[in-house]
Amino acid sequence: MTLPPLALATAPVGVFDSGVGGLSVLREIHAQWPHEALIYVADSGHAPYGDKSVEFIEARAVHIIEHLLRQGAKAIVVACNTVTGLIIDRLRQRFAHCPIVAIEPAIKPAALHTESGIVGVLATRQTASSPGLARLIHAHGQGKRFVVQACPGWVERVEAGKLDDKDTQALVASYVQPLLAQGVDTLVLGCTHYPFLAPVIGHFAGPSVQVIDPAAAVARELGRRLVQLRRSAPPDRLPQPIQFWTSGDPLHVAAVASRLWGQTLSPLALP
Ligand code: DGL
Repeated sequence: MTLPPLALATAPVGVFDSGVGGLSVLREIHAQWPHEALIYVADSGHAPYGDKSVEFIEARAVHIIEHLLRQGAKAIVVACNTVTGLIIDRLRQRFAHCPIVAIEPAIKPAALHTESGIVGVLATRQTASSPGLARLIHAHGQGKRFVVQACPGWVERVEAGKLDDKDTQALVASYVQPLLAQGVDTLVLGCTHYPFLAPVIGHFAGPSVQVIDPAAAVARELGRRLVQLRRSAPPDRLPQPIQFWTSGDPLHVAAVASRLWGQTLSPLALP
């Protein structure tokens, strides 16, 4: 289906993640481009992706993108590092008619920032061992040392809305402290759930460690792509509400997502 230019300009941008983590990307997009209509899918019924097979993750990503396209999305934002690291090339081939902007760990900014020459990358298991991350470090690591730390359990803490209780603090400390002991002065948040743990991560890392989240850069890249393709929403349009879908328990997801978003979000059940 080809939409005429005006319909493309006013059409929504579709954003998705394995769960509520991608709201950390959605908030940057909404802050930078308030006139864009946004549709968000939280696949919370299947989170975490980080422990699942590549085939399973691809099937979910395809299902969700098809849903977003049925809602009229003019562009897709993959707000999930795990999806990007494993299958972004295959998704771009399959949905070649639709622009796809994808988050990935901020390796280049971290390489530029580090003074100790040692960078910690916090990620899901799948991202930590993904070919995408290895390629990024090879291409943009500038010879710096990257210590990649898988953090199983962190996504689940955010999905449960347990952002700073004692168990979450202990789990965060157990992965951050060994990195500090190795001399990292820069931490890359390689999963979109982790910005919601940033206060706890920062508490253990201390003020001398820079914590890098690429969400704002993804929002800027989306804006560039929409301008290039002449698909940006008219700037005189009123700020648009968020349409939110989830495969998880709608009541639980509504409670957690609303807390993360800072305003009530009421998800619809994802077919
Ligand atoms: N927020 C997803 C990411 O950026 C988490 C993936 C997962 O559910 O493991 O990778």
